[in-house]
Amino acid sequence: MKFFTTLTVLLASVTASFAQQVIVSPTSGQVINSNTAFNLTYVSQRSGGFRESSIKIDVVISEIDASFPFPGGLPISDLTPTSTAADGSSIYSTLVNPIVLDGGAPGNRLVAVVEYFNAAGGNPGLDAVFVPVTFV
Ligand SMILES: *[C@@H]1O[C@H](CO)[C@@H](O)[C@H](O)[C@H]1NC(C)=O
Repeated sequence: MKFFTTLTVLLASVTASFAQQVIVSPTSGQVINSNTAFNLTYVSQRSGGFRESSIKIDVVISEIDASFPFPGGLPISDLTPTSTAADGSSIYSTLVNPIVLDGGAPGNRLVAVVEYFNAAGGNPGLDAVFVPVTFV
């Protein structure tokens, strides 16, 4: 029983270190025209065979020095995966209208993706990744 518990903990930590969540678009430092919708593409390996499953994401545009839970405009909420990659990863892709914070004011911002997922074992999980961008 003790061995089994240890093995379970080991598997959980391996899972956490290999599953990757990446904002493919926009890229870090990208300059975005705030009058134009931009391509948001997020890839979560949480459905890629790591025993976790990705459920949905929110997209938030927040101040550059913000941290979780990223207060700010919520241009996209409850987006479910739009496609599945060959390795089983969940792909989320949509166009985001940046006019959500200060009416689309120019400046440095964070584009954050908050992901809702089922962790290994079935418990609900929440995670966030972000990239800095500049609106002009
Ligand atoms: C975003 O860009 C990617 C790569 O060019 C493309 O495959 C995807 O369809 C685009 N998403 C939207 C919502 O236009």
